Amino acid sequence: MSHPSHSPRLLLSGFMGTGKTTIGQRVANMSGATLLDLDELIEERAGKDIAAIFDDDGETQFRALERYALRSALDGDSPMVIAVGGGALVDDDSRALAKAKAFVVTLTATIDTILRRAGRDGLESTRPLLRVANPRRAVEELLKLRVKAYDDCHHQMATDDLSVDTLAKRLCEHWAGGRVFAEMS
Ligand code: S3P
Repeated sequence: MSHPSHSPRLLLSGFMGTGKTTIGQRVANMSGATLLDLDELIEERAGKDIAAIFDDDGETQFRALERYALRSALDGDSPMVIAVGGGALVDDDSRALAKAKAFVVTLTATIDTILRRAGRDGLESTRPLLRVANPRRAVEELLKLRVKAYDDCHHQMATDDLSVDTLAKRLCEHWAGGRVFAEMS
C-alpha cells in the first residue's frame, strides 16, 4: 500500500456525536463499499444493546468485546467503511492496528455540537457514558483524556458546519481506495 488513503478500508473514528455512522453510510453508498458499524457488530454478538452490556457486564467487558470486534472487522481486505464507537481507538494497540490496516479518519465537532447531537438527554441518553447529571462536564473530561488518541490518525475532518453529503464527498475524495472501487463496480 503506497499511502494509507489507498487502503480498501476506511475507518471513521471520533467522539460520540461526530457523525461517524451517518457519514460512513453516505460514503459507503457513494463508493460502493459496505458499511460495518462496530457497535452493531458488538450488539449482534452479545445479543443485547450497548447500554445493556454496560449495565449488565460493565465497561471493562464492553471494551474487551470492542477490541475483539475491531480485530475481526479489520481482518481481510474487501472494500469497507468501518464506523467505530468513540472509545474504540483510545487503546494504543487497537489504534496502531487500525492505522496499519485502514485509512483512519477522525471526525471532530465542537462540544456544543456534540451535546446537541448526542448528549441532550442526560440521564435518559442511550449512550451510557453520557447518562449522567452533567453531560457537558462528561464530554469535556472524556475529550481531554482522548484528544491525543483522536489526533493520532491519518486525517481529520470537522463536521459542525457542512452537510452530510458534502462531508461524504470530501471523504471520498481523500479516500483513494473508495474511488477505485466505485470505478470498478
Ligand atoms: C462510546 C461511544 C459509543 C459506544 C459506547 C461507548 C465511547 O459509540 O461505543 O457507548 O466510549 O465514546 P458512538 O461513538 O457511536 O456513540
